[in-house]
Amino acid sequence: MNIKPLQIGEKTAALPLIQGGMGVGVSLSGLAGAVAREGGIGVISTAQIGFREPDFPDNSKEANLRAMVSELKQAKKIAAKADGSCDGLIGYNIMTATRDYPDYVKAAAKAGADVIISGAGLPVDMPEYVKGTDTKIAPIVSSEKAARIILKMWDRHYKRTADFLIIEGPHAGGHLGFSNEELSHIGEKGFDFSYDLEIQKIIACVRGYEEKFQTSIPVILAGGIMNAPQVRHAFSLGADGVQVATPFVTTEECDASEAFKQAYVNARAEDIEIIKSPVGMPARAIRNAFLEKMKLGRENITKCYRCLEKCNPKEAPYCITQALIRSVQGDVENGLIFCGDNVQYLDRISTVSQVIRGLFA
Ligand SMILES: Cc1cc2nc3c(=O)[nH]c(=O)nc-3n(C[C@H](O)[C@H](O)[C@H](O)COP(=O)(O)O)c2cc1C
Repeated sequence: MNIKPLQIGEKTAALPLIQGGMGVGVSLSGLAGAVAREGGIGVISTAQIGFREPDFPDNSKEANLRAMVSELKQAKKIAAKADGSCDGLIGYNIMTATRDYPDYVKAAAKAGADVIISGAGLPVDMPEYVKGTDTKIAPIVSSEKAARIILKMWDRHYKRTADFLIIEGPHAGGHLGFSNEELSHIGEKGFDFSYDLEIQKIIACVRGYEEKFQTSIPVILAGGIMNAPQVRHAFSLGADGVQVATPFVTTEECDASEAFKQAYVNARAEDIEIIKSPVGMPARAIRNAFLEKMKLGRENITKCYRCLEKCNPKEAPYCITQALIRSVQGDVENGLIFCGDNVQYLDRISTVSQVIRGLFA
């Protein structure tokens, strides 16, 4: 395979690979640092990143902002070679749906993130929050319509374009930018083929902005990618790189508990479910006792961590912060376990280096 480095403005990653951000606590410094050490872009998820800080229950925002700084510092340490140099880059994934989103993006740029990636909604004013810094920014889109909207808005309001762009397809993990109706067609003949056409339309739209701004905007494909033929297919569609998340969960370096990783190893095709998350979007998760219980009723939410802009604890079926923290810490029957569609193919714990070799063999 002809592997070209990923060039984002003046920043370079030796490999055209981004490790997708995974909250809560799944991609922190351990995973992101290991990916960057191998030459990829390691991404720390800021979603309730401070959950291990002692003051998190009462002071979650401050705990999160503090943990962001320490995790980035630690990731850089892990990624550095003996001479202090690094072949990869390190950044954050910050969900647009996060409460106080602007403060997180500003803090991320100030901390020295190479990149910030934002999905779970369109990050309309993201350029404003990184002004005057050299942090590179990317929206995540799942349709040509979303790509057109966000690029047009950044052009009109900020006279700039995206530094790179992620296309997240229907096989991805976590929150999905598709309707339940669209997701119900997964597995049908022609489904992936028709999404390939959408990908090509998004890429054509991005190339138009490259022309307009006389710059290069790498396009990265995400969702269900776990082997070299899939990476080659992404390149054949015109993508410049791939974003991979689920296969990195079952690595020694991943920051989640061993029980969380084992839940991935044990998951079969029939254990994967599309749920409606309290964010208001469909999401993919592993079926367990918690999801079964939530089908019958709702949890009594006694504490709100104010994590999402639009979540109303009086109406939400459960507290997504608590459900995600429980699972990542190992209580996998009583927590929410996000996963990608390809979790069914993961059958053992490997290493970051092995996953990367499998992608670019
Ligand atoms: C456990 C888990 C948590 C995730 N959390 C986030 C998140 O906090 N923000 C986000 O934008 N995407 C999140 N994602 C999506 C990934 O970053 C990635 O784009 C997607 O899963 C790619 O598909 P793949 O998992 O099949 O490789 C999550 C995915 C998983 C599996």
